[in-house]
Amino acid sequence: MSQTVRGVIARSKGAPVELVEVVVPDPGRHEAIVAVQACGVCHTDLHYREGGINDGFPFLLGHEAAGVVESVGEGVEPDTLRPGDFVILNWRAVCGVCRACARGRPWYCFDTHNAAQPMTLTDGTPLSAALGIGAFADKTLVHAGQCTKVDPAAPATAAGLLGCGVMAGLGAAVNTAAVTRGDTVAVIGCGGVGMGAVAGAALAGARTVIAVDRDPRKIELARATFGATHTVDAAASDVVAAVRALTGGFGADVVIDAVGRPETYEQAFYARDLAGTVVLVGVPTPDMRLDLPLLDYFGRGGSLKSSWYGDCLPSRDFPLYVDLARQGRFPLEAFVSETVGLGDVEAAFAAMHRGDVLRSVVVL
Ligand SMILES: NC(=O)c1ccc[n+]([C@@H]2O[C@H](COP(=O)([O-])OP(=O)(O)OC[C@H]3O[C@@H](n4cnc5c(N)ncnc54)[C@H](O)[C@@H]3O)[C@@H](O)[C@H]2O)c1
Ligand SMILES: [Zn+2]
Ligand SMILES: [Zn+2]
Repeated sequence: MSQTVRGVIARSKGAPVELVEVVVPDPGRHEAIVAVQACGVCHTDLHYREGGINDGFPFLLGHEAAGVVESVGEGVEPDTLRPGDFVILNWRAVCGVCRACARGRPWYCFDTHNAAQPMTLTDGTPLSAALGIGAFADKTLVHAGQCTKVDPAAPATAAGLLGCGVMAGLGAAVNTAAVTRGDTVAVIGCGGVGMGAVAGAALAGARTVIAVDRDPRKIELARATFGATHTVDAAASDVVAAVRALTGGFGADVVIDAVGRPETYEQAFYARDLAGTVVLVGVPTPDMRLDLPLLDYFGRGGSLKSSWYGDCLPSRDFPLYVDLARQGRFPLEAFVSETVGLGDVEAAFAAMHRGDVLRSVVVL
């Protein structure tokens, strides 16, 4: 018996999202249905709507979610997951057998699991679930491995944000760049993702955390709430010169580009000290190109990395950061700027576009 719930879809490139009826099939083998309690609005949802990710329309949007397991399919061991469990949904349900998993690097898993069955429109049209999740919906069907159990005392609104943006930024700093005590770190773009990197760098003990954004509200928030020690207004100053000035003239040990444009990447590249690390976490669009002197790439040494999902391992990282947040050691709840309804996703995109929010969170 399938069930029909409300869900937010992007039907075609650039068209406003629509709140429609979505058919959720019963969970099949290794699948689970989750009653979604909260789902953050991530810039990646907007990339999907704009056709920037792929052409798999119609998309069921939403992928930064927490909720309660309603039912599980065959083959899901009760010790692993059972109805009533409070979970954060993840888009890295590791397979355990691919070449990355086999080498003990499951955070790079190349064959992650999603539900095998599609959710559909009432006319049977299959939906592509954003990042294999599709959680701007009352209920969603996922692979059981996409459900990561965390402390049920955590508020779903904030916990869900670890399911994508906050974890992506936090992990870019802590996992990909391996920021450690004493490092100097600059983060370009302090939306939900970049602010996660600011907070992650502070948590890891960086001595200098420079928040760079062209929106003064974001850099003020980075300083007041998320642990930035210095700020740079990208609209009013030369970012490279400003970061160098704040780091003894050398550049930062780690620069994280959480915007993902050629110009911000170039800033990150030159705002980095010799032998430093650049991490690209913002998602570029297919038309973007980068033109850098190869000699500078060689001559400056160090490492240029990109970070998918903060190189996180959900089973290891989500419960950890929920606990740190519960203990007051990580400002997870401060990422929630506003809560909105399922019918407000388009308005939330506009708020994000205006820079009014770190995260709007849809509550169900
Ligand atoms: N790598 C991953 O796993 C992953 C996961 C989630 C999101 N993302 C991507 O990360 C990026 C950021 O997502 P978000 O949700 O934080 O977006 P957002 O729109 O909330 O934030 C972007 C921020 O960058 C600032 N900005 C834009 N252009 C700038 C510039 N030229 N210089 C300085 N600041 C600038 C904006 O003012 C804003 O504060 C997006 O591209 C998103 O798709 C990547
Ligand atoms: Zn794998
Ligand atoms: Zn996301």
